[in-house]
Amino acid sequence: MVMNPAGLVAGKSVIVTGGGSGIGRATVLLLVNEGAKVVLGDIDVAGGEETARLAAEAGGEAGFVRTDVAKTADVDALVNRAVALFGRLDGAVNNAGIDMEADPAMQWEESTYDRMAEVNGKSIFTCLKREIAQMVPQAGGSIVNIGSIVSFAGAPGRPAYVACKHAAIGLTRTAALEFAKNNIRVNAVCPGGILTPLMEKDQALKAAVAAANPMGRLGDANEVAEAVVWLLSDRSSYVNGHSIVIDGGFTA
Ligand SMILES: NC(=O)c1ccc[n+]([C@@H]2O[C@H](COP(=O)([O-])OP(=O)(O)OC[C@H]3O[C@@H](n4cnc5c(N)ncnc54)[C@H](O)[C@@H]3O)[C@@H](O)[C@H]2O)c1
Repeated sequence: MVMNPAGLVAGKSVIVTGGGSGIGRATVLLLVNEGAKVVLGDIDVAGGEETARLAAEAGGEAGFVRTDVAKTADVDALVNRAVALFGRLDGAVNNAGIDMEADPAMQWEESTYDRMAEVNGKSIFTCLKREIAQMVPQAGGSIVNIGSIVSFAGAPGRPAYVACKHAAIGLTRTAALEFAKNNIRVNAVCPGGILTPLMEKDQALKAAVAAANPMGRLGDANEVAEAVVWLLSDRSSYVNGHSIVIDGGFTA
């Protein structure tokens, strides 16, 4: 069943990592509203199941698979589930992420860098590799990696997060170039301060980010999801290797 046959991504099979909260959840719900069939992965079972329930409540189709994106076998299982359910993989959103450096004690720690690199950095590589392996024989697909405004600038006290978000752009551009001939597009969406549970964990940062923004507010997760869904759709067919910044004009 396709919920919205006239939707922007009607009938497309899409996976979303980190779909149990924030930007990932908003993306899953917009995708099903625009007619996609979704499988979401998250390390948080309660959050993932709640997103799947919300999607079903809205009349959409979204399965949940418990996934740790730092584990290649889990990424394999997520892709395999989408293919088993829907027969192919048209789109993927590599969104799962953590921000351990909100705690000052975790800044400039080697263990922080290692875990952040696994979850926010290398996972983009493993997800891309597995998703592209599925899309090449299908002769097409669209992938969106979630970066950040710190994909393009430094941020004091957040070396590991910033480094991983820079890596996400390098991987986006490289995969876009390498697989354009296979009709696979790879782009990034780079949010500024968005009001999600990740941002709620750091109230001082939340207040400072809102005050510094030209629009005087944080963004909403739906405002990020809109760009992600458009990039997954055929309406962005000549957009490739690009990064869309969604920050209310902050970096302008
Ligand atoms: N909120 C912001 O202001 C902001 C700004 C720029 C970029 N981002 C990026 O957007 C993405 C989503 O962030 P959010 O704000 O929605 O955060 P969030 O904490 O609300 O959601 C992140 C989700 O990822 C999941 N996750 C964490 N580790 C995982 C793992 N190992 N495997 C699978 N899932 C895992 C979490 O359980 C959670 O459901 C992240 O990549 C983040 O870096 C957020």
